[in-house]
Amino acid sequence: MNLSNRIYRLSAILFFALAAAIAAHAQPAKAQYEPRVGQEGKDVVWVPTPQSLVDKMLDMAKVTPKDYLIDLGSGDGRTVITAAKRGAKALGIEYNPEMVELSRRNAAKEGVSDKATFLNADLFESDFSQATVITMFLLPDINIKLRPKILDLKPGTRIVSNTFTMGEWTADETATANGDCVSYCNALFWIVPAKVAGTWKLPQGELALKQTFQMVSGTLKSGTNSAQISDGRLRGDQITFTAGGVRYTGRVDSNTIEGTVKGGSNGKWSATRVSK
Ligand SMILES: C[S@@+](CC[C@H](N)C(=O)[O-])C[C@H]1O[C@@H](n2cnc3c(N)ncnc32)[C@H](O)[C@@H]1O
Repeated sequence: MNLSNRIYRLSAILFFALAAAIAAHAQPAKAQYEPRVGQEGKDVVWVPTPQSLVDKMLDMAKVTPKDYLIDLGSGDGRTVITAAKRGAKALGIEYNPEMVELSRRNAAKEGVSDKATFLNADLFESDFSQATVITMFLLPDINIKLRPKILDLKPGTRIVSNTFTMGEWTADETATANGDCVSYCNALFWIVPAKVAGTWKLPQGELALKQTFQMVSGTLKSGTNSAQISDGRLRGDQITFTAGGVRYTGRVDSNTIEGTVKGGSNGKWSATRVSK
């Protein structure tokens, strides 16, 4: 190769290298991921909870900085971020990795990345047993599938669902978003009830309890007297029922109940579970 050919080749290489560098520099910034309402999700499509309902859901659960909130299927992270802005530690479990990245960016923009974290995972494969509050916007059949795991959470854990029910486990409270919410504006709230079914020994007799979610029925036997239980209900570890015209309230701690009695003989009562 003679000198002029070499110079020609070198100039061509330099020209293309320069052109490539300019082209790379001139490329528009990589477009930020934009989710689309209704886009496919693993088990549920993505539809965001209106912010006014997010606020209402967290109000219902009375979220405080002491809470650890987990949003099952956390979408763009709005519920987790709102909880973190209230001072709670919050985790979003989301299957779509792009939504997880988006949530992390949103949390950073809101300055709550220390409290709002996101896990790219399948909610059915994830451990949410440490949560004090669970939020979700899934579907009725998914809620039912999750129900046994939810009922095994610590009594008192608060659950809030956007719109969808939990089958025969009726909500303890319902509420509607304020303001300009136009769709998916209702929230349902449950408190995981303690498990109380079984036979309990009291100093003065025996209590036989049946439980259907937060509803309690049964009989209180004392000597030859047997009284049906009415108005029996659990709110987390708090039990209340009426038997023989007397109102019992108490706190359940696995196999013991301690509380107070009103009507007839006012005072304290306690019971120990002898069989389940
Ligand atoms: C209706 S959106 C609700 C989003 C968010 N919780 C909210 O209220 O704005 C349901 C979300 O669940 C996610 N999802 C669906 N199946 C899932 C699964 N098996 N595990 C984790 N996330 C899932 C979807 O990608 C979607 O972001």
